[in-house]
Amino acid sequence: MLVLGLETSCDETAAAVVDETYALRANIISSQHEHAIFGGVVPELASRAHLRTAVPVVRAALAAAGVSLAEIDGIAVTRGPGLVGSLIVGLSLAKALALAAGKPLIGVHHLEGHIFSNLIEHALAPPFLTLLVSGGHTEILRVDELGRYELLGRTRDDAAGEAFDKVAKLLDLLPTTGSVMGGRIVAELAAKGNARAIAFPRALERDDSLDFSFSGLKTAVLNHVRRLVPDQLQRELPDIAASFQEAVVDALVGKTMKAVAQTGIRTVALAGGVAANRRLRTCLEEEVQAQGGQLHYPSPVLCTDNAAMIAAAGLFHLSRGRRSGMDLDAVPRLSLSLPHG
Ligand code: KG4
Ligand code: ZN
Repeated sequence: MLVLGLETSCDETAAAVVDETYALRANIISSQHEHAIFGGVVPELASRAHLRTAVPVVRAALAAAGVSLAEIDGIAVTRGPGLVGSLIVGLSLAKALALAAGKPLIGVHHLEGHIFSNLIEHALAPPFLTLLVSGGHTEILRVDELGRYELLGRTRDDAAGEAFDKVAKLLDLLPTTGSVMGGRIVAELAAKGNARAIAFPRALERDDSLDFSFSGLKTAVLNHVRRLVPDQLQRELPDIAASFQEAVVDALVGKTMKAVAQTGIRTVALAGGVAANRRLRTCLEEEVQAQGGQLHYPSPVLCTDNAAMIAAAGLFHLSRGRRSGMDLDAVPRLSLSLPHG
């Protein structure tokens, strides 16, 4: 069984092919560079770029897999959450392909895709906990069964990736050309700095819940930066980046380990763009292994947005006989689970 996946929820236009064992046959990602001069993703520019790129990206994925559309058994597409204008481009193309080739269509939840990115490279079976950390979401979920996700904790304000992006912007690190992936730039700078240089706050550390809060941390970085003269700021940049990253990692690791203790589940899967962060992977791996557990995380290219994860989640649902109708709609805000309890 071969599934073609399409992902256009934000600023990556992606198409991929996976087989019935979740193995990758092709994984094409075209990142949009037109947003850099604006310092963030501009929705209308994103939709237009998807419109120009989506068909060539699908063609490239089929060519890389060495298959024709006729040899594909199903088409999976992100239906939300995401930018509505961007989602609509992917959905329209997926429907057109499904109609023309007479193939089943399945709409996929973007966050379920992130979780499934772990199944492409590892044998991961429930029960497990997942720490989902992306640009728009920060959640701890309990997975007793694939397809069913129980929310244990979430951010009360900014997502972890959003905090990385805002700090990249306020430290003036974003390039004026290329990708606007602020987290990656902050992480590269942090590798050269001292993580103990500045004591940034760890919100909700002693709170019993498994929730996060990152907006205070971002404000603390801003207040610190405002006190520095330009020369000092340039010298301190790596230390600020490292100390900020450490505060985010401490919060993510602390709450995940609290979830391990509360549930007794010691298999943990990291997912989402921030899962590419090396410091997070290392610190969480140490803590999970110290409890006799195992941490799974995807290769960096499968952490950030891609269509392989959408094809993988689509394969799971299609192989259980699930299908979406041709009236499948884009849903900009879409929850993956019901609140705990
Ligand atoms: O999952 P993703 O590609 O898109 C969403 O679904 O949001 O996640 C993108 C987020 C961005 O906020 C980006 O800055 C962050 O992931 N990110 C990182 C790293 N690479 C990407 N954050 C920290 N360290 C990284 N290495
Ligand atoms: Zn994502």
